Amino acid sequence: MTTVSITGQTLDRKVGNTLYMSTISTTISGSPVRNFTSPPHFDRPTYLMCPPEWYDVDYVINPWMAGNLHRPSRDLVFAQWKELHTQLHRIADVRLIHGQPGSPDMVFVGHAALVQHGIAALSSFTHPQRQTEEKHLRRWFEAAGFLTWETPRETAFEGEGDALFSATGDHLWAAHGVRTCLQSHRHVADAWHTEVTSLHLVDPRFYHLDTCFAPLSGGHLLYFPGAFDKPSLAKIEAAYAPEMRLPVTEAEAARFACNVINAGREIIMGVMESDLATRLATLGYNVTEVNLSEFIRGGGSAKALALRLSDSRLTHGF
Ligand code: ARG
Repeated sequence: MTTVSITGQTLDRKVGNTLYMSTISTTISGSPVRNFTSPPHFDRPTYLMCPPEWYDVDYVINPWMAGNLHRPSRDLVFAQWKELHTQLHRIADVRLIHGQPGSPDMVFVGHAALVQHGIAALSSFTHPQRQTEEKHLRRWFEAAGFLTWETPRETAFEGEGDALFSATGDHLWAAHGVRTCLQSHRHVADAWHTEVTSLHLVDPRFYHLDTCFAPLSGGHLLYFPGAFDKPSLAKIEAAYAPEMRLPVTEAEAARFACNVINAGREIIMGVMESDLATRLATLGYNVTEVNLSEFIRGGGSAKALALRLSDSRLTHGF
């Protein structure tokens, strides 16, 4: 097998595309023939999921896990994950990566990387408990033909947990304050030479951007304002007109209302027990709610359980 990896630090974004390619540091291993794996191509919205055979709450690295040690019911874990997989498969292609013993949070594969244009900016997890996932994730992305972009350990970066492209794919929103380091934002955005806006998270319950911020395909933004500091709210309000902003209540946010999977007009989310699905339906979205109670014990919901692989423009085509 041939693997190609890009070491981000060696790239100089000022040099332009030609030199960019020639300054890529590549590692080619395993194959006598030096042909590159073809980059992945997607015709349909495509996501990665990780079955939950090794999932459990084994430690506490976010406030949701406290009081939930080893409480997820195995039966419910499998039934809920399977239902999410069924619903996602209805609207998108789904690829799988196997979970690993000793990596109970790997089921939250939404934080494996940030993917766009066949490049996977791999996560460099904050907590040692999740760093065990990194080598398995890297291996999967390389085998699938993605170019991989590394982030140094000193500047943590947690993939689509903390970095989300706008629906059109031309702007990156990235968060810091709990997990991901501010210093990683520019570095990650350089993988695509894209503009990035940094947002500061201030409530430990909403420790990842994908718990409180979801750019939707129709150009709307689903978000929980209480998770951000004032300057960040000002940036959000400058980018989204009032009629495009859909603030959720604190009760909805605490049910992970913003942790949604959105492909085209379809939205898959946890059970809200509010009129959020109706509010979204009036804007043209079809909402499916799936009970994900056992994963909320670990601190995540629908979005955290699936990683977008196809380009955001294809995935979010409305
Ligand atoms: N236990 C995982 C962690 O703390 C849960 C991740 C879920 N994340 C999310 N954005 N919803 O990393």
